[in-house]
Amino acid sequence: MDKIPAGWLVLRPFTVADVEWVYDVSQDRALRQFVQLPSPYLMEHARHFVEYLAIELGERGERAEFVVEDAGTGERLGRVALGMRGDRTAEVGYWTAPAARGRGVAPLGVRAICGWAFAERGLELIEWRAEVGNVASRRVAEKAGFVLEGQLRKRLVHRGERVDAWIGSLLRDELR
Ligand SMILES: CC(C)(COP(=O)(O)OP(=O)(O)OC[C@H]1O[C@@H](n2cnc3c(N)ncnc32)[C@H](O)[C@@H]1OP(=O)(O)O)[C@@H](O)C(=O)NCCC(=O)NCCS
Repeated sequence: MDKIPAGWLVLRPFTVADVEWVYDVSQDRALRQFVQLPSPYLMEHARHFVEYLAIELGERGERAEFVVEDAGTGERLGRVALGMRGDRTAEVGYWTAPAARGRGVAPLGVRAICGWAFAERGLELIEWRAEVGNVASRRVAEKAGFVLEGQLRKRLVHRGERVDAWIGSLLRDELR
């Protein structure tokens, strides 16, 4: 996967040098609340995420995981991803490092990865799901152009329990 330009940001593929950063960010309370992560989150989990989920599955075309960086300074700010489903649809995922939140990093990153996937991977629809109550994630989806479709019962597993989910989607022609 190549780099994807995104305004003042750039999306780049993960490398093994990102393991420690992933470990650090994954200790954050909001991530542990709203992202399905092992608990406790150990360095071996970060290594598995980077080496297998990001790099290996990326090479196989099953996932697309990108680090979102400041294009000027190279500072790592967050992560955006697509889990490919093999039927021209994918599910989007993202997090922003705590110190970088509130600056529009995730919406810009999500728009860029969606534009890339529609153009380069032939996707027709990208789905977004978040736990009901994750207002920050919902704002990201809305700002990136997703249409909220409703609520699903017990469709996500967070903190070891099933929780209700908001669901939305973005169609190829809707990326404004
Ligand atoms: C959801 C998340 C990715 C948003 O990323 P971001 O880069 O801060 O996105 P934005 O700057 O557009 O902010 C989105 C919303 O976060 C909230 N927010 C703003 N500043 C914030 C801050 N300093 N800290 C936390 N949340 C903040 C606001 O509700 C904002 O919406 P608004 O623009 O309408 O005010 C980030 O909060 C995060 O990583 N959360 C934990 C992981 C997660 O929930 N991922 C999504 C799983 S579906």
